[in-house]
Amino acid sequence: MPRHVAIIMDGNGRWAERRHLPRVAGHRAGAESVRRAMQAAADAGVEVLTVYAFSSENWRRSEEEVADLKGLMRYYVERELETLKRERVKLKLIGEPGAFGNDLYDRLQRAVAETAANDRLTLVVALNYGSQAEIASAARELAGKAARGEIDPHAIDEQAIGSLLQTHDLPQLDLLIRTSGEVRLSNFLLWQAAYAELVFTETLWPDFDEAAFNAALAEFARRQRRFGGR
Ligand code: FPP
Repeated sequence: MPRHVAIIMDGNGRWAERRHLPRVAGHRAGAESVRRAMQAAADAGVEVLTVYAFSSENWRRSEEEVADLKGLMRYYVERELETLKRERVKLKLIGEPGAFGNDLYDRLQRAVAETAANDRLTLVVALNYGSQAEIASAARELAGKAARGEIDPHAIDEQAIGSLLQTHDLPQLDLLIRTSGEVRLSNFLLWQAAYAELVFTETLWPDFDEAAFNAALAEFARRQRRFGGR
C-alpha cells in the first residue's frame, strides 16, 4: 500500500465540453471528485493524498476561469471543513497560496489550523505550486547559508535540499496519478517523484471515482519497486 499518493487532476475542461457545459461546471464536478478521492484514500489506509489544484502556470487561463477556480476553492474550504473534521483529515497547503488574496488565504489558514490535530489522512492541496520554483527556493536558501559561512557547500546533498522543500515533513511520494490521458508531470513534485510509480489513466478527473482510485492502487501493488537496485 502506498503511504503517499499524489494526483494531477486533469480533464475538467474536456468533461464539461463534452456535456456542452461551461468549464466551471467541470471544475465543480472536479471538486466533488476531490472529496471522493479523499474518502477512498482514507478508506484504503493511505496516509497522505496530495492534489494539484492550481499550478503556477494556471494564471495564464482567462480571468474568468481563474476567478471561478478561486470561488470554488473558497466554497470548498467553507463547506468541506466539516467533512475534514468529521473524517479526521488534516489539511496542509503547498505552493504560494498567498497570491490568492487575503480573504481566501485567511480561510485556508483557518482550515489548516482547525484540522492540525487530525490523524486519519493528510490532504495536501497544492495551490499556486510549481516544482522548479520550490527547488530554486531551496537552492537560494542553501546558497545564502553558504555565503554566510553557516554551511560548507560540499556538505550540500540530496538530504539538505529535500529538507528545505515544502514536502519535507511528508513521507516519500510512492504513487503519482495523472488523469485524462496526458502523459507529463507539468512541474508537479519533480524532486519528490524520483522513485514514485507513475500511473496515467484516460479517465477524466470528474469521472475518477473510488473504483478508479482503487484500480490505481492495484496497479501500484503489481509493480515491483527496485529503487535503482535489481
Ligand atoms: C485540470 O483540468 C484541473 C484544474 C486546472 C483545476 C483543478 C481544480 C479542481 C479539481 C477543483 C478545486 C480543487 C479543490 C481542492 C477544491 P483542465 O481544466 O486542465 O481540463 P482540460 O485539460 O480538459 O481543459
